[in-house]
Amino acid sequence: MASRAAEEAGSLLLKHMHGQLKLGHKEGRANLVTDVDVMAEKCVLGILQSEFPDFSILSEESPAVARDSQFTWVIDPLDGTNNYVHGVPFICVSIGLAIGKQPIIGVIYDPVRKELFTAQKGRGASLNGLPISVAQRTATKESFLGVDLGYDADKGKAMLDFVQVPWPDIGGLRLMGSAALGLTYVACGRLDAYIHPYLYPWDVAAAIALVEESGGKITDWQGQPATIESRVIVAANETLHAEFLKLIQGQSQLRFRSV
Ligand code: IPD
Ligand code: CA
Ligand code: CA
Repeated sequence: MASRAAEEAGSLLLKHMHGQLKLGHKEGRANLVTDVDVMAEKCVLGILQSEFPDFSILSEESPAVARDSQFTWVIDPLDGTNNYVHGVPFICVSIGLAIGKQPIIGVIYDPVRKELFTAQKGRGASLNGLPISVAQRTATKESFLGVDLGYDADKGKAMLDFVQVPWPDIGGLRLMGSAALGLTYVACGRLDAYIHPYLYPWDVAAAIALVEESGGKITDWQGQPATIESRVIVAANETLHAEFLKLIQGQSQLRFRSV
């Protein structure tokens, strides 16, 4: 059901990608929303609510709906709005199902590549039905690191300061523009690690399930297992995760650590 919702919303994103968008601005630096974000959200909510009317909902573009249920759908109808607005084809629909703060199902759909990533707690993770796992690379100096800056100017600056710590002894560095898809790329081994200074529940819910179920480790900067309420996020395989955490914890001036 969540996969169908993600695919249908993804088709909408694709259809309107190069059309005329109505733009709005939210709080923070360059935090955009478009009419297509809202359209995709309606599509996802329509499908999920008709099938699971009792579940609570936390979705980026709508007020939260608290129901008397242990289950919450955590939805980002379009992750990568800035990429989308500029025609950069790196975006996704993200749908997580959480019990309390802990995701148990993750569905991420990239409509451009028609890639559907799914994970269920205890049952592994897959890409278009085939099992995926995190990369096995363990040397920081060879690792391919993805990051994003978020919408807070100071935390973004702290992130830029941080990447200078491993640089240039690193395999490569990418600014992804979609945190959910960036984290998913860790889950399927395309990135070795992903770090973000400040995320919201809808950015991480599905990705937490995906990274954990593909054998990776995803935590906050203190090394606590990530929940939908974690702000700083560090994801990688076990060994690299420990290496990057050490680098973050060794930088006392990093402002994003205070979250
Ligand atoms: C944003 C993207 C971006 C990240 C931001 C997120 P949105 O989500 O994931 O990569 O840096 O912090 O808020 O606004 O495109 O859904
Ligand atoms: Ca997002
Ligand atoms: Ca969004």
